[in-house]
Amino acid sequence: MAGPQTHDHPLFARFWKLAAPGAMSGRDRTELLAGLRGEVVEVGAGTGVNFAHYPPEVTRVVAVEPEPHLRVEAEKHAARAAIPVEVVDGTAEELPVADGAFDGAVLSLVLCSVTDQATALAELQRVLRPGGELRFYEHVIAHRERPAALQRWLDSSGIWPHLGAGCHVARDTLGAIERSGFALGEHRRFMSGLGPFALPHIAGVATRR
Ligand SMILES: C[S@@+](CC[C@H](N)C(=O)[O-])C[C@H]1O[C@@H](n2cnc3c(N)ncnc32)[C@H](O)[C@@H]1O
Repeated sequence: MAGPQTHDHPLFARFWKLAAPGAMSGRDRTELLAGLRGEVVEVGAGTGVNFAHYPPEVTRVVAVEPEPHLRVEAEKHAARAAIPVEVVDGTAEELPVADGAFDGAVLSLVLCSVTDQATALAELQRVLRPGGELRFYEHVIAHRERPAALQRWLDSSGIWPHLGAGCHVARDTLGAIERSGFALGEHRRFMSGLGPFALPHIAGVATRR
């Protein structure tokens, strides 16, 4: 059975293979990646559904994915991608890549699941060149108190993290990005998801100073 430190989540992997296209549309994925160029590290790549959406100016993607079943799917997407994609094992908290090696970094629906957001964001600062861009698309805690309280309860009860392989719905991810030292650029806040299951999301860009 999966313990707290493991990234082996076969049931979630099977679920995410079906859910990923609905959780974030192809249009949103294309928008998230538009304008990236050079070498990019994508963290928590999942099934690799983003790979088809990278612009041709991206010369190489290193896709870090700790979950072994998702990594197998990501490797299939990598083989079909129009740009070179290398899928590697690793975590956001300890990226298996060199300092200052990347022009861009991509996170889509990942900072909800990392063990430690501050450590993950410090790692992204380490691996980006000065001026490098972090592109993010994440669900976050609501501004309104009642939905925020429900989100906090879902996290603290352990129900949501258990169902979502470590996912948390009550994180102030935009605040974490700003506190980590990134310069926050253009971004938007919006609701996404079906009816009562819609969650507040953020998407945008932050720059390594
Ligand atoms: C909801 S899925 C999103 C997958 C993909 N980015 C997408 O947009 O479809 C969350 C992903 O984060 C990964 N993940 C969870 N904890 C992580 C960590 N500490 N470091 C890196 N990736 C992590 C999971 O294995 C999973 O692939």
